[in-house]
Amino acid sequence: MVLLTGDVLFSVAIALVIFLLLVDLMHRRQRWAARYPPGPMPMPGLGNLLQVDFQNPSYSFYKLQHTFGDVFSLQFAWTPVVVVNGLAAVREALVTLGEDTSDRPRVATNELMGFGPRSQGVIGAPYGPAWREQRRFSVSTLRNFGLGKKSLEQWVNEEAACLCDAIVNHAGQPFRPNALMTKAVCNVISSLIYARRFEYDDATVIRLIELMEDGMRKANGLLLQVVNAVPFLTRIPWVAAKALPSQRTILAIIHSLLTEHNTTWDPDQPPRDLTDAFLNEVHKAKENSKSSFNDENLRLLVSELFFAGMLTTSITMSWALLLMILHPDVQYRVQQEIDEVIGQGRRPEMADQVRMPFTNAVIHEVQRFADVVPLGVPHMTSRDTEVQGLCIPKGTMLMTNLSSVLKDETVWEKPFHFHPGHFLDSEGRFVKREGFLPFSAGPRVCLGEPLARMELFLFFTCLLQHFSFSVPQGQPRPSDRGVLSFLVTPAPFQLCAVPR
Ligand code: HEM
Repeated sequence: MVLLTGDVLFSVAIALVIFLLLVDLMHRRQRWAARYPPGPMPMPGLGNLLQVDFQNPSYSFYKLQHTFGDVFSLQFAWTPVVVVNGLAAVREALVTLGEDTSDRPRVATNELMGFGPRSQGVIGAPYGPAWREQRRFSVSTLRNFGLGKKSLEQWVNEEAACLCDAIVNHAGQPFRPNALMTKAVCNVISSLIYARRFEYDDATVIRLIELMEDGMRKANGLLLQVVNAVPFLTRIPWVAAKALPSQRTILAIIHSLLTEHNTTWDPDQPPRDLTDAFLNEVHKAKENSKSSFNDENLRLLVSELFFAGMLTTSITMSWALLLMILHPDVQYRVQQEIDEVIGQGRRPEMADQVRMPFTNAVIHEVQRFADVVPLGVPHMTSRDTEVQGLCIPKGTMLMTNLSSVLKDETVWEKPFHFHPGHFLDSEGRFVKREGFLPFSAGPRVCLGEPLARMELFLFFTCLLQHFSFSVPQGQPRPSDRGVLSFLVTPAPFQLCAVPR
């Protein structure tokens, strides 16, 4: 064997560098197209990965928007990305151009979660027939849930009562509310999916919540960004093991819950829950090789509904309680409205909402101020398109910066303050606002929006009907600044709940 001399090694290294630079240039050629959105100069190989703070991308994007305008471009390694900011551009991208912008980027780490041609769940599924089939199924199952013995509203109301009982157990002493909120919301999704709830001290549910929170904390980490930007890294076993450990354990737990459930499924009986309804579809689609109804997809869909529906809603509830202890005048006015419209003698119902404009405005303002999903979920263009007169080629990843809409200085009077008046007219009537986009918009708008709105209204009114919340005596006022991972959570805080 010929040993490589220093000179030969040097030439090989130079050739390799030239090769990589050429590949890099090839991936940049989009930037030279006419009217491609402006953006900071990418570095060879890494693109702009080091210029975005992945611990706080909203802030990085805020600064870039002020330098480059509402539509700017970035490059994550070799992946071209366009970030869309502000109400006008985000609405144009998501709604007016919904047919061009509703695809999802291929996420290399999804394959580690069992993604395949016929099992793509909903959230990450490409904009095509399998996504449409699963989305239609999920929306109609949510809407019809009525179809089991109990309606969804009744489930939520019963869970709200359990939540109040658990709060009474704290006997007015300081406690952190977030774990209780997450367990209550988890039970609503669990009743939809498995027609059962878990006790608040159940080991499985405690583990599931820990894993979800861990997955969320790591979702913005540099390792995941790098692996998704350079997909072949998922072939390295060490990287694959490090990339999504909690998500894979969640899938295993969900798999065992589903296996347990399948033993009691009876196709001749009306479906008890979403899992039964899905298994009926698998049964019907046995002969159809193109159907997306199969066991792997059930596992993915269920884990996505837990993941998308649990933390988003429970974190919003924690924000609602935090903002009530920070704004006791607002809390008092909500309680007055509850006393006038519902009283103490019965549970709140969704039908009460239209007669409670102030409470409704407060819940909307909590969502706007809390800004729980600041960057939405990434989209991808499925054909060449134009946003605000700038050209975005097919296959470009689009990040729709929802935070820049919820805090748009040209839309809201006090974008960075908690101000329920944003949703009230001069006569105290509730007003809808176009810039209220916490659930995104267009064909990919959050499919759990009606359920989330129901949970927020029923939990919030039930809690304020029964308790007054306050900052524990002797403790400093908690901060209303969020902590960002993939979602924005309130910084840990305690409160006291005194029965009314
Ligand atoms: C306050 C609570 C919630 C917020 C703020 C929220 C927000 C969002 C956002 C911003 C998106 C991305 C939309 C896009 O791609 O443009 C989304 C998607 C989604 N959400 Fe929610 N969500 C909430 C609750 C829920 C609930 C309760 C469920 C289900 C039980 C759910 C299920 C989903 C699903 C399946 C998607 C993907 C839709 C698709 O790709 O077609 N979400 N949500």
